[in-house]
Amino acid sequence: NPRNLREEEEETKDLISSLSWEIDYIGNKLFKYEGHWYYEDILQSIPNLNTGFKPQETDVIVASFPKCGTTWLKALTFALVQRSKHPLGDHHHHPLLSHNPHEVMPYLELDLYLKTSKPDLTKFLSSSSSPRLFSTHMPLHVLQVPLKESPCKIVYVCRNLKDVLVSLWHFLNANKGVEWNDFSQKEKIVRVEDYSFEAMFESVCNGVTLYGPFWDHALSYWRGSLEDPKHVLFLMYEDLKAEPRTQLKRLADFLDCPFTKEEEDSGSVDKILELCSLSNLSSLEINKTGASGGVDYKTYFRKGEVGSWKSYVTPEMENKIDMITEEKLKGSGLNF
Ligand code: A3P
Repeated sequence: NPRNLREEEEETKDLISSLSWEIDYIGNKLFKYEGHWYYEDILQSIPNLNTGFKPQETDVIVASFPKCGTTWLKALTFALVQRSKHPLGDHHHHPLLSHNPHEVMPYLELDLYLKTSKPDLTKFLSSSSSPRLFSTHMPLHVLQVPLKESPCKIVYVCRNLKDVLVSLWHFLNANKGVEWNDFSQKEKIVRVEDYSFEAMFESVCNGVTLYGPFWDHALSYWRGSLEDPKHVLFLMYEDLKAEPRTQLKRLADFLDCPFTKEEEDSGSVDKILELCSLSNLSSLEINKTGASGGVDYKTYFRKGEVGSWKSYVTPEMENKIDMITEEKLKGSGLNF
């Protein structure tokens, strides 16, 4: 009913105009909604998701705060879950050799429900047939509304915040021409020419970053994983780096597709890790030259190191961010 749709849009607009807002370090307007910060368009995806997203029990959602290892986890999850459909030995035909991991696993709020409650799921390789694979940067409480009726599997990847900060700074600087919230906003509020690391650091510390505060984001999934370990798995980027085989097997068990003895003996675990490695993915033509929405795929792959923040974060900054982190995570059992 078009009238209702227009009414809904009006309601969302009214709601947005009542929210508090801030300008972020790249000059965009962020709105605070239920404790987290979003661009206007992303906020509008929430009612679309709530009314339109019909989860299936077999759905898998890869969730993360930006720059925590989303691209890697998408690749691993896709290769793992689809290994009978896309055999690993078939190195010339595997979809990950000709598609960026983001192409095979759409973001619920960005690629699908940004502007509509009835997106065309067939546009994406893995979201049209069971098990459907999706991704999101939304905090868990946003998903819990549409997932109420049918809980599916959610895998979250978290990372040390100082490495996230450095990774984000490099990513945004490498994508300066991209208008991250130009979906409806015609003009940039403030034109920021240089993305200063210090300004970004302060915003992250204040929690005023897209999808932030970081700690609340991580804690929402951490608590979810403790309350409902069958449906929410919490992974750390650092653990994936340190013990990839163990973590991949953990992921397979969680997703109810454990490796069989034969698969283990024939090296399937290593084949997936090799296919999804930073060196392999970043050397593929698609990831060297492809782009989407103005973002060059190559900017999703940088160093992939643990602890490279040390060259950027001063001892004072380290102190400050560690103190906030300790305070925020106190008593939760979570550490990063
Ligand atoms: P750095 O900038 O520290 O190198 P996201 O995928 O959430 O955007 O996160 C990007 C970070 O993950 C970048 O970190 C990037 O290098 C790293 N990354 C991307 N693909 C990876 C892979 N296959 N293996 C390990 N790390 C990867």
